[in-house]
Amino acid sequence: MSNNRKFGTMTEENSLGQHTDAVILVGGKGTRLRPLTLATPKPMLPTAGVPFLQHLLARIKAAGITHVVMGTSYKAEVFEDYFGNGADLGLEIEYVVEETALGTGGGIRNVYDRLRNDTVMVFNGDVLGGTDLSQVLHTHHSKDADLTMHLVRVADPRAFGCVPTDADGRVLEFLEKTEDPPTDQINAGIYVFKRELIETIPAGRPVSVERETFPRLLEDGLRVFGHVDQSYWRDMGTPNDFVRGSSDLVRGIAPSPVIAGRTGESLVDESAGVHDGALLLGGTVIGRGSEIGAGARLDATVVFDGVRIEPGVIIENSIIGAGVTIGANARISDCVIGDGARIGARCELKGGMRVWPGVEIPDNGVRFSPDA
Ligand code: GDD
Ligand code: MG
Repeated sequence: MSNNRKFGTMTEENSLGQHTDAVILVGGKGTRLRPLTLATPKPMLPTAGVPFLQHLLARIKAAGITHVVMGTSYKAEVFEDYFGNGADLGLEIEYVVEETALGTGGGIRNVYDRLRNDTVMVFNGDVLGGTDLSQVLHTHHSKDADLTMHLVRVADPRAFGCVPTDADGRVLEFLEKTEDPPTDQINAGIYVFKRELIETIPAGRPVSVERETFPRLLEDGLRVFGHVDQSYWRDMGTPNDFVRGSSDLVRGIAPSPVIAGRTGESLVDESAGVHDGALLLGGTVIGRGSEIGAGARLDATVVFDGVRIEPGVIIENSIIGAGVTIGANARISDCVIGDGARIGARCELKGGMRVWPGVEIPDNGVRFSPDA
């Protein structure tokens, strides 16, 4: 039974998905993940060996949904170049480009003409989640809701949309990024819309679904419900969350049909070279063609393609962009290294430093005193 669900064959649960369109919002600039997002849009950054979005597409397919519309803007062409019409994934993918970004609500309105079903499942394109999409659809239909939102509880709700509900699960308020949230229950970035509601979003101008559309729908008394669960959930918008999300995928803590059966302490592309005595821990990923020198120790680190890490390097909680070189015995902790940068031997980088693409730091170029 679980196998059937994993591979998206017909079951009672995913029959709901067959009558549902998916819309994925991927038009954001990914500012908090710069400099990696200067070349690659956030949902296309490699995560556990594939572009992040591929994990979401696999979950959409497993729920029985086949028609997917992507709302793109920033670096729009990258998505279509990679996924094409979606046939390789067993999906039918269309792209709708916003010449100037229309915001989350404007992005949803902008794909209205492409929708085929009366039920539309909208996804923020940067969330790593384990929720059962069929169950969210089930809640939507059983409550006869106009709009259903996936909600999760988090330790610090201030960075999210705060969404209090009543005992029946009906949404009382939608408070985007408030300093004083009344509950720890937040918008997890999946919405099920009745299609007709999407037509009521103003067309042709920027609209925030969180700040404009949701408050209006609540004010108008529409049936807006929350689907709350305890599944894995993480917004991948910051370097720290990106690294943790990737590690959790590799270790099997965050579920994904793409990596099922291959989880462990690390994930190394078959074309990469890892020399004797190198230690790869904490869900570290090594991308295509990368070389890891003898005695290097990488913990919870994402290494993109074509990276050269020389012997004795120690790296933790960091993202190493494509084509980077790291000189022998360098130490890197909690950093983002942009594509093509060169970090000299024995350099020490830590505490949230970001190195821009192509920058070269000479040997011994950055050091901290032992007690700094
Ligand atoms: N098409 C399109 N056009 N997509 C956009 C645009 C746009 O103008 N702006 C943002 N997006 C996409 C982003 O690419 C991302 O996938 C998604 O919309 C959400 O944008 P973020 O910039 O990541 O928003 P956030 O993380 O600060 O907050 C949102 O997500 C939280 C959950 O992760 C809000 O929806 C919060 O309420 C929510 O809690
Ligand atoms: Mg986000």
